[in-house]
Amino acid sequence: MDHFDYRSGVLYAEDVPLADIAERFGTPCYVYSRATLERHFRAYDDALGTHPHLICYAVKANSNLAVLGLLARLGAGFDIVSRGELERVLAAGGDPAKVVFSGVAKQDAEMERALEVGIKCFNVESRAELERLNAVAGRLDRKAPVSLRVNPDVDAGTHPYISTGLKDNKFGIAVDDAFAVYQRAQFLPHLNVVGLDCHIGSQLTELSPFLDALDRLLVLLQRLEAEGIAIDHLDLGGGLGVPYRDEQPPVPFDYASALLERLAEHGRHHMTLLFEPGRSIAANAGILLTRVEFLKPGETRHFAIVDAAMNDLIRPSLYQAWQAILPVDTTLEREAETYDIVGPVCETGDFLGKDRHLAIAANDLLAVRSAGAYGFVMASNYNSRPRPPEIMVDGRQVHLVRQRERLETLWAGESLLPPDEPEAY
Ligand code: LLP
Repeated sequence: MDHFDYRSGVLYAEDVPLADIAERFGTPCYVYSRATLERHFRAYDDALGTHPHLICYAVKANSNLAVLGLLARLGAGFDIVSRGELERVLAAGGDPAKVVFSGVAKQDAEMERALEVGIKCFNVESRAELERLNAVAGRLDRKAPVSLRVNPDVDAGTHPYISTGLKDNKFGIAVDDAFAVYQRAQFLPHLNVVGLDCHIGSQLTELSPFLDALDRLLVLLQRLEAEGIAIDHLDLGGGLGVPYRDEQPPVPFDYASALLERLAEHGRHHMTLLFEPGRSIAANAGILLTRVEFLKPGETRHFAIVDAAMNDLIRPSLYQAWQAILPVDTTLEREAETYDIVGPVCETGDFLGKDRHLAIAANDLLAVRSAGAYGFVMASNYNSRPRPPEIMVDGRQVHLVRQRERLETLWAGESLLPPDEPEAY
């Protein structure tokens, strides 16, 4: 459930008509709902109840400082994949002791900074990374807390670009090799083994792959303990899907109940659990607001050309993702037609939606739903388009949490070549 609803035929974000936001900040713009973000975070937190747990929000899904700050206030930890994400978390008031660091290619400087601020855990993805982390920690005279990201080889049943837990994927350490890598980790002097981690993919709509992955981790866990390698926490990654269209992904409560039941069956009632949800917290807490520039009827297709494009929201172009597109004002007299909703970028692949039946006219506002995760964060300046502003609605209040990028910013940091030397005669 979210807080983008129609009231008397007009679309609102919480208590604010979206048309007012468009008027004030222009389009395209991203609009987030604070109440929805909080609700989604609490759904996880409440589902785990008194079971020891930490919800480490995956910063990559939406890294706006206001989003991070409000999750930090709710007690969230954070899953980061770069120094940039770490600095964002710190700037937003996040607690470094609740940060886990994922990613296949952490650089020395990134490891150093994370050790300096005292993060909770490095989710190590290869043998080579383990050696590097040991060396970096040694130079700083620290012990790095580590978890190995194990690739359990389960099929997440999702889009191939966002599936990560198969043998063929670049992520994690093959489950069959993990035991040996743990032995090595235990032996290295500047590492402290604390956890066991996996993340099998994103936008999962079934529980079974998560449970299969957990089963494989539990087998490994037992072997590790028999070897005297103590594991304090299990990190099950992110990946719970959201309803974009008619999917019915499990809700956090069902997910947590199934996991806790499985843990109890294995006598692990008190195992601390970490999660790294991104999409399921942020996606349906945001929309992309855009205005129709022109309606362009054609022989075979009709186009609604809007002012947002693939550079603002790339998911439809990149993954053929379907996101709902709604008129902001349904009280207007319009004729309905089937449109492809396309942007101004010079690419045939520049579309936000295809074959959408809409009653619209030029100048009308449209809301692209489920745009709060992997929306703004994946925006680019392609076609020299400034990135849109981000706005957070909180009840009746409206906060500009990132201003529209200025044109001059587009070429800031670039320079012309020095003047040509006059030609010698
Ligand atoms: N943890 C790790 C290690 C991850 O790689 C990811 C996502 C997450 C957590 C969060 O997963 P989530 O709960 O959001 O599913 N750009 C794509 C999604 C890429 C996901 C990458 N990793 C999209 O727009 O669908």
